[in-house]
Amino acid sequence: MSTSPYKALDLGGKVVVVTGGGSGIGESSARLLAARGAAVVVGDIDEAGGLRVVQAIGDEGGKAAFVHTDVSDEAQVRRMVEFAISEFDGLHGALNNAGMSSRGASLIDLAVEQWQTMIDVNLTSVFLCMKWQVRHMLAQGGGSIVNVSSGAGIVGFPNSIDYVASKHGVVGLTRAAAVDFSARGIRINAIVPGGIETPMLLGAMGNDPVVRGAVERGHPIGRLGQPIEIAEAAGWLLSDASTFVTGATVAVDGGYTCM
Ligand SMILES: NC(=O)c1ccc[n+]([C@@H]2O[C@H](COP(=O)([O-])OP(=O)(O)OC[C@H]3O[C@@H](n4cnc5c(N)ncnc54)[C@H](O)[C@@H]3O)[C@@H](O)[C@H]2O)c1
Repeated sequence: MSTSPYKALDLGGKVVVVTGGGSGIGESSARLLAARGAAVVVGDIDEAGGLRVVQAIGDEGGKAAFVHTDVSDEAQVRRMVEFAISEFDGLHGALNNAGMSSRGASLIDLAVEQWQTMIDVNLTSVFLCMKWQVRHMLAQGGGSIVNVSSGAGIVGFPNSIDYVASKHGVVGLTRAAAVDFSARGIRINAIVPGGIETPMLLGAMGNDPVVRGAVERGHPIGRLGQPIEIAEAAGWLLSDASTFVTGATVAVDGGYTCM
């Protein structure tokens, strides 16, 4: 933690949990946070991906550890938070990023099981993570939590009713929790990414240049985003450079939600 107001992006001395840190936005964020000095705990169901990212952080001179975590399971979320505290002696930040995309969901055909899985993985997970993170941060005297929503958390998106509902829920959870805990030193914000070039989006676009072109044109900036562009926003929100920001929905979306 820096004493110079111009070095507030520095994360030295902070311990940060990154869920879904084994791929895409989570991987890039974990590596950026560690490069800025944080000790990072990567929680993911993908053991190989999580361990690969921890290894990469070590190779880059940072500190990180992996804990296998299904974020839709409360016992596993609790264990992840307690692991961070015992491994690195505290918890100052969290990037609640793990999530899944829609398999395609029209309102009239969507099976309740598919709906429930989406809500469990994308929304209940954020509730569970914040529940255990905030408990510790209250005892410790503060912290910063960043929840990853989506452009689909602000506007509708075709044939993805389950995903859109889950990501709108993440924005609501973020605002409600910020209202309750900001005065007690815990800032809670949401990031709204536009289309970001990760395995999730590449899989959804199915390697089809026509689909990719259409997605790119949906962004006024005219291209997809890169994971590091979300990581930069996460790094800022988790740092002491953003101490007056709470309850915000920060669009990092190439203009997607302004259309
Ligand atoms: N890529 C985009 O265009 C985009 C746009 C808006 C929002 N988002 C959101 O960003 C977040 C990260 O997505 P990404 O694009 O990096 O995807 P990704 O598929 O590359 O990474 C997602 C990670 O989450 C993990 N994960 C999935 N379910 C989990 C569970 N139950 N418990 C723990 N970990 C789990 C996966 O194993 C993977 O490592 C997601 O919440 C996604 O909805 C992505």
